[in-house]
Amino acid sequence: MTDIIASASNLPPEIARRRTFAIISHPDAGKTTLTEKFLLFGGAIQMAGQVRAKGEARRTRSDFMQMEKDRGISVSASAMSFDFGPYRFNLVDTPGHSDFSEDTYRTLTAVDAAVMVIDGAKGIESQTQKLFEVCRMRDLPILTFCNKMDRESRETFDIIDEIQENLAIDVCPASWPIGSGRDFLGCYDLLQDRLELMDRADRNKVAESIEINGLDDPQLAQHVPAELLEKLREEIEMARALLPAFDHQAMLDGTMTPIWFGSAINSFGVKELMNGIAKFGPEPQPQAASPRAVHPEEKKVTGFVFKVQANMDPKHRDRVAFVRLASGHFKRGMKLTHVRTKKPMAISNPVLFLASDRELAEEAWAGDIIGIPNHGQLRIGDTLTEGEVIRATGIPSFAPELLQGVRSGDPLKGKHLEKALMQFAEEGAAKVFKPAFGSGFIVGVVGALQFEVLASRIELEYGLPVRFEPSQFTSARWATGGKAAIEKFEAANKQHIAHDHDGDIVFLTRLQWDIDRIGRDYPDVTLTATKEMM
Ligand code: G4P
Repeated sequence: MTDIIASASNLPPEIARRRTFAIISHPDAGKTTLTEKFLLFGGAIQMAGQVRAKGEARRTRSDFMQMEKDRGISVSASAMSFDFGPYRFNLVDTPGHSDFSEDTYRTLTAVDAAVMVIDGAKGIESQTQKLFEVCRMRDLPILTFCNKMDRESRETFDIIDEIQENLAIDVCPASWPIGSGRDFLGCYDLLQDRLELMDRADRNKVAESIEINGLDDPQLAQHVPAELLEKLREEIEMARALLPAFDHQAMLDGTMTPIWFGSAINSFGVKELMNGIAKFGPEPQPQAASPRAVHPEEKKVTGFVFKVQANMDPKHRDRVAFVRLASGHFKRGMKLTHVRTKKPMAISNPVLFLASDRELAEEAWAGDIIGIPNHGQLRIGDTLTEGEVIRATGIPSFAPELLQGVRSGDPLKGKHLEKALMQFAEEGAAKVFKPAFGSGFIVGVVGALQFEVLASRIELEYGLPVRFEPSQFTSARWATGGKAAIEKFEAANKQHIAHDHDGDIVFLTRLQWDIDRIGRDYPDVTLTATKEMM
């Protein structure tokens, strides 16, 4: 098991050394702490505590708003690049709150792997499960980190069983914990045959490693008390008999996850996990696109926008489009073609996100995430190429689950409201529908908290107080079909028709019955709950 290092790559070395991944977890499992330790060991920050906002308050609503207001923080946290030995890690942040699942989904289209963090006492929680399902839809490789082993946690076999059963994925232990809670000593590293002992005195110190010649090595007894050692030997013997052996290909296919045990706050197990990401990867993967997939080793640059963050500085109304480079070697100042509008764009001030700083990206390679400041030209799903007409696919937009009308507190500022709403629609923060009948807009979101965030941002960024109010509709579906069929459908269902910010036709209703009726009455019209962004 020791030498299952990623086989020699066919990619150019600059690309092969990149690892682009996200962390998925339930709130409180330790994502922030782990991120911070990654940065610390990656040499991107000098001291723990630089990334973290303070304590529980960070997750309360008011603080969430504060974070939204303080665009600097959330942006630098959106993508972070740092080196780990010869590797370049690009860590893309997934929004923590469950209300932002659509944004999360799109973020996961920009990564090649995910690290799943679970709390050793709590196991798989609701948000972990949901995010895992999203990863599964894309067969993303997943590496698991079982955190907080310094506290009382569940039995190791129980944790592994729970993951296997709830997530239907094979689990292979990469390390095995010794003791638990106050008696937690460290782990036996099953991949390297090493003993890793946790240092409780210095939380930022990397654990001491002791080379061990298998489980019968007498050295073990010098470090592990007899009782714990006996349990460790028994458990590992059982684990080897009952659990699948590590299979790199199965991990890359997303059917097996290696699991490391540790304690992020004590910096324990983090390096082993980082080594796992480095060794097992994967390296940058091909991007699904139409009419052909894009391969990272292609000489020409291709990138796609998976996230747009607007008004980072409310005074300047600038936006940053987050672009995942799918191929090539990008250099600052390059002229790329914006495929949707067919216009050239000179990318003169792209940014790379290094821990809490942004800096100009002089160059970037396939696998990297760069930020491109712009005035609204770049939208989610857009593709940039060196001229070829190609479109990234698989970046969906989901039908909102909650719909509300929106009123401006100042009726004279209708245009301002429209502008604000369109901007949020382009940013992907909400769906905005303009009904064909009557005036005003219907705003659709995935989670209720988003209405509050929108209201606060419209007020903050546009100086416009707004009120969201119940709408007569509860569901939205995109309608597609031949021209004649669509025209007939539109004419006969006017009070249900609206257009989204791209001008696409949407059917609004409060009854599933209506949706079924359209299916029967208009066989040439298709109603869908997702649309590809482009
Ligand atoms: P999140 O981003 O996934 O929401 O989790 P975060 O890292 O913020 O961690 C949640 C809480 O768990 C924090 O405590 C953090 O200190 C703690 N924690 C993280 N890793 C470990 C670990 O390995 N062991 C133990 N015992 N605790 C851990 P908090 O009280 O909410 O915040 P704070 O007061 O420590 O800042």
